[in-house]
Amino acid sequence: MDAPNGSQNSEQTLDSEVKAFFDSAPPLHNSNDVIQKLNHFIQLNSSPSENGVGRRIVCVTSGGTTAPLEQRCVRYVDNFSSGHRGATSTEYFLKAGYAVIFLYRRGSFQPFCRSLPGDPLLECFEATEGLNIQVREAYSKAVKTAIVDHHAAVASGLLLKLPFSTVFEYLQMLQIISRPMKDIGPCAMFYLAAAVSDYYVPWKDMVEHKIQSDGSYLLDVKLVQVPKMLSVLRKDWAPLAFCISFKLETDTNILLNKARGALEKYNMHAVVANELSTRKEKVVVVTIDDKITVTRDKSKADDDVENPLIKLLSQRHSSYIEDSKRMR
Ligand code: PMT
Repeated sequence: MDAPNGSQNSEQTLDSEVKAFFDSAPPLHNSNDVIQKLNHFIQLNSSPSENGVGRRIVCVTSGGTTAPLEQRCVRYVDNFSSGHRGATSTEYFLKAGYAVIFLYRRGSFQPFCRSLPGDPLLECFEATEGLNIQVREAYSKAVKTAIVDHHAAVASGLLLKLPFSTVFEYLQMLQIISRPMKDIGPCAMFYLAAAVSDYYVPWKDMVEHKIQSDGSYLLDVKLVQVPKMLSVLRKDWAPLAFCISFKLETDTNILLNKARGALEKYNMHAVVANELSTRKEKVVVVTIDDKITVTRDKSKADDDVENPLIKLLSQRHSSYIEDSKRMR
């Protein structure tokens, strides 16, 4: 037998890293419930409607994952992401006719709730003299939109929200989501805006109890690289799905090259490049033959960069579905 070449070797290494990651992960306590909700959601939305076709379904990931340092976790390494991108994009995907699986970090921004203040309960409501609770005038529009639009999306079966905190939960849930998504082929989209931990402590190497700080000057914790699941998602989990990943940098000089590198390395359909301080104003969509700058319409006070971004990605997704039909 021939010796495996370089790419076979790196594929085998990735496969064994992925296996090690999932083998060491603490099992999801609610996996049956998640699977049941997902199957129902995908069946409902993928069944052909009057026009004979099912709805397109997108999995939007949002917020940062944590990498715990202790099994009974007191401390963890966190990844920056407020969840604004994912929450806003979800609203525009719903507007564009998609059903959305919103895989989000607990406590991060939620769709339709972006214009609420930091502490909505205490800031939006007030007690009247008879101790009835009423919405403060200044927030009445924001509260109404949040409750009515959010409820409408969930109640009509178009929005399924699944929370995570740790990188173990996130990647296990992404894998679970990809199983029924695989069955709808090119009508599925993954929009991976979550900021996923690059390093983690494998569960079996993690101390059980709170790390003690007495006496030692150095904290010696060994972190292992989290395998990039993007390649696995594209190759094995949902090979026909339309896949969009994100690239965040703080140095604009390297951003586009890094995005291009990720596009090729992980075989993505597009990579959305964004710089930290301008991410709400401008992004660049990098595809194999294009670099499209997408900006927020500043003449409209409440426009979002996600508005033109989701329009563009939805058009690209439509062309991809058409191309896939022709190739059948
Ligand atoms: O939430 P906001 O405050 O609005 O900010 C939005 C954002 C800046 C977080 C978002 O637009 C963004 O850029 N998200 C990706 C940030 C990131 O950290 O990228 P990355 O270089 O670590 O990862 C690139 C891609 O690989 C991501 O799509 C990620 O989901 C994926 N990944 C990362 C690590 C890993 N082990 N497996 C992965 O699949």
